[in-house]
Parts: sequence; C-alpha cells; structure tokens
Amino acid sequence: MRSPQATAAGATRKLSTSLGRMSWAEWADAIEIEPSIYASDFSRLGKQLEGLHSAGAKVFHFDVGDGHFIPEITIGPIVAASIAPLTRGWGARLDCHLMVSEPEKHFEAIAKAGGDSVTFHVEVCAEPARAVAHAHSLGLGVGVALNPETPIEDAVAAAGGADLVLCMSIHPGYSGQAFMPEALDRIARLREALPAGVRLQVDGGINAETARAARDAGADLLVAGSAIFWNDDPGTAYSKLADLVTEPARA
Ligand code: DX5
Ligand code: ZN
Repeated sequence: MRSPQATAAGATRKLSTSLGRMSWAEWADAIEIEPSIYASDFSRLGKQLEGLHSAGAKVFHFDVGDGHFIPEITIGPIVAASIAPLTRGWGARLDCHLMVSEPEKHFEAIAKAGGDSVTFHVEVCAEPARAVAHAHSLGLGVGVALNPETPIEDAVAAAGGADLVLCMSIHPGYSGQAFMPEALDRIARLREALPAGVRLQVDGGINAETARAARDAGADLLVAGSAIFWNDDPGTAYSKLADLVTEPARA
C-alpha cells in the first residue's frame, strides 16, 4: 500500500497555475510513477486521465516527437492545451519530454499550452545552460535527457540548474519496448554524480518486473506507458505499480 502520508498529501495538494517555478523537490519528494500519455487510447484520453488522477497520479508524461530526432511524429502543444486544464485543475504536472532536434524552438509553445516542464535531449543541445535558463524564464521546470549510448558525464555536465535528469532505458521512439538492463548501472552512476536536489527519471520498459530495480538503482520518477495504458483499467495498473515502488526496498 502507498503510505497514508503520501495519500493525504495527494488529496490536499492545492490547485496551482504556476507549478513550473516550483522545483520538483519542493513540489513532491516521493517516488512518482508517471503515466506516459503516448501509450494512451487517444479516443478516450480525458477519461483515462481522470481514472489515473483518481488512482493518485500526480505527474503525466507527455512525449513530443518531431520525426527528426526520432523517426516518429507524436503529439504536441495542441494536445497539451486540451488536457492541461484537467491536469492543472488537479494540481498535477504535465511533464513534457521533447524528443525533437531543436528543443528550444518549442519551449514557448509548450509553456503557452500549459505544460509544466520541458525535458530536452543533451545530444541535440549545444548550450544546455542557455536552454535551462530559457525554460525557467518561461516558468517551466526543466530536465536533461540522455539516450542509452550517451556518456552519463554529458548529462551531468549539462544538468546545472536543471530539476531532473532523464535516463532513457530504451531507444526513444515508441512505447512497448523492453527495458535495457544496462540502464540500471547508468542510473546508479547518475544518482551518485548528481546533486541530491536533482530528480532522476527513467523512461522505457518500466513495468512490474523492472520498476523496483530502477528505483533501487536510484531513480525516483518512473515513466510508464504500456504497463499502464495497455490494460483494460489503467487506474488499477497505475495503483499496482505505485504500490510496488512505495514498498520498502528488500534488505
Ligand atoms: C518513448 C517515450 C516513452 C514511452 C514509454 O520514447 O519516451 O515515454 O511512452 O513507454 P513504455 O513505458 O511502454 O516503454
Ligand atoms: Zn518519454
């Protein structure tokens, strides 16, 4: 079961229209499962999000892909704008993962659409410090993502001032891929190298078999797409995963 404190905190969290400037650490210091909207049934998106909110979800992961940095074109600000009133109304976060080749070009549109944070890939950002400052100037939280082959040192060097680092545990592109086991060592090394206030997110292949290992390695924001949405009842799937990662680690 999730801790009573975590449940009470979720129920009493205040509505806010400016979560972006609040650091992730200030906003919530618990382990979070982030449903990845990319894997949802878009014909029933609002209903599925409501079910997940009722089940306790507080962060929704929103994958923007441009057909360049990854082959797929995914979803963008128009979809974000239609769901942000829901997530904002719940005091939840819309956490936007920009799998695009020119991430900064999209920050303003994401902010206007109601996104709460943007995560850009270090592989396509020549001036990460400028990108971090740019996102913050728009009232957005900001993260730095790295692909499975990218040296962790690149992300650590880019993460100054960022709220989170996103360690990919699949090759970015689509939901439903298997977790790459080598990500566990990378998560552990990143946790070691990053300041305590920087959250560590993992994205790709998180499910009942992999979530606790990712948490035990040091991740505290666990993105899950297919493990949640590719079920008859995403809310129940979310709750099971959330319970799993709020149980204490095995001795
Ligand atoms: C894909 C996206 C992921 C994706 C995860 O590159 O970044 O967020 O939706 O899906 P699962 O959890 O199924 O691997
Ligand atoms: Zn993602």
